[in-house]
Amino acid sequence: MSSGESRRGLWGSKLGFVLAASGSAIGLGNIVFFGANAYRYGGGAFYVPYFVALFLLGIPMMIVEFGLGKTQRRSFPASMRKACGAGGEFFGWWSQINALFIGMYYITILSWAASMLMKAFGPLLEDGRASVGPTFGATLASWTPAAFVVVLWGLNMVFLSKGTKTIERTAKIFVPLMWVFMIVLVVRGLSLDNGFQGVWYLFTPNFDGILDFSVWRGAFSQMFFSLSLGLGTMVAYSSYLPKKSDVITNAGMVSFLNCSFEFIAGVAIFSILFAFSLYPGSSTGTLGMSLVVIPSGIAEFPAAQAVFAGLFFFLLVIAGLTSSISILEAPISAIRDKFAWPRGKVLALIALIGLPGSLVFALPMMLDRGGEPTQTTGLTLLDLLDHWAFGYSLLIVGLTEALYIGWGYGISRLRNELNATSFLKLGPWFDWLIKLVIPVVISVVLIFNVLGEIGAFYGTKESQLFDGLNWLPFAVFIFWAIATFGGASVLTRLTQAKEEGIERVES
Ligand code: PHE
Repeated sequence: MSSGESRRGLWGSKLGFVLAASGSAIGLGNIVFFGANAYRYGGGAFYVPYFVALFLLGIPMMIVEFGLGKTQRRSFPASMRKACGAGGEFFGWWSQINALFIGMYYITILSWAASMLMKAFGPLLEDGRASVGPTFGATLASWTPAAFVVVLWGLNMVFLSKGTKTIERTAKIFVPLMWVFMIVLVVRGLSLDNGFQGVWYLFTPNFDGILDFSVWRGAFSQMFFSLSLGLGTMVAYSSYLPKKSDVITNAGMVSFLNCSFEFIAGVAIFSILFAFSLYPGSSTGTLGMSLVVIPSGIAEFPAAQAVFAGLFFFLLVIAGLTSSISILEAPISAIRDKFAWPRGKVLALIALIGLPGSLVFALPMMLDRGGEPTQTTGLTLLDLLDHWAFGYSLLIVGLTEALYIGWGYGISRLRNELNATSFLKLGPWFDWLIKLVIPVVISVVLIFNVLGEIGAFYGTKESQLFDGLNWLPFAVFIFWAIATFGGASVLTRLTQAKEEGIERVES
């Protein structure tokens, strides 16, 4: 290994890369968001759009992101610059600022799971199911999550301290563990009376919703998020691969592992819901579904409730940690590539910006006077920012990536480069998928989103709860727009440090 390679980072083995990438993919998205989305969009009605999203968008875009990282051997903005010029770099940075925002509140959500983990052996199940909701409300309205935010940032820094080395070690411990825990939960869920009913609900195809546009939008965003696409994470991870790696097969493997985990998680969740006739109302938010409704089901287990509740929250925390480190590694590698700073300095910078950000989302004070227990200041801000940073950015980045790589760099060129070291070969059909089909599909989804926005600006309808704060949704949007667009243009204009370490790898 040349010193250039060791400086930038290199995975110790193929297994190490697959574990790290699947650790990134498997996270809150698979456990918290998949179950809630599948339920909201009608179980069997969800998985047709879901599979279309997987094969049409998910796996192909993962091949593109892995391919970009492997061939350019740089983080997302630097890879885009090398492959497609300054415009590509701009979108690269734009995605990195969004990644930092998402990383901030992803860690806050983990802090809520960690706080619930702590309560699992205390007040959470004291009065069975009846105490779950109130405990959750009280937890969110306390400073406990803020304390956990600090702990979780510390853990992220430790796991990121030596780059690929520590990331790989973390994944090797946590990823197998999360599978074991999930399998335990599935077996328990299925062995409950009526547990299987939930499985029928999830797996019986139902074409009612096939013309409902929101189902498709839900499935597409879910797929991007779940596969860790659109934030530069998979580009950063694959930039640490040796030149000869087979990324086409790896993309298939990581997608398969991710979606299997997601389906198993779905089975566990739906079996618990149906066993105890828990039918979340339409007002149950996504978070409420995993942090309240599932634990309420666990509270009804015939035995060892605290153990299972603890297991569930611990699973959320470790699955989330292997994802949060990957979200942060994307901007970390981007800054290192641009300024050639040592890792320690970049970690300090990211923590200096990110930790206060996470703390803002953990703010407990109640904004509303309506008595809705989950509406803390932090959660309100999280919801407003998430609408832009997650709801739009992943798809916008996916779209620009497909266009830049498809037409700018030339997808047939990338395809040939990848085919040369791959067991599975991609045919020319792949070019049209990236150049045309994916951009059209994402554009349609985005256009419908924007049209919906014109009718009612996001957050303004719900904001009746905070009288006098109707400006907040607009303020969050303007803040987000300036931070991402402004930040990305400044970062793109700054001069690139000499790429000593990287060039040496290539020579
Ligand atoms: N895929 C992760 C999850 O399912 C989240 C994530 C998104 C991680 C984007 C990295 C990049 O929770």
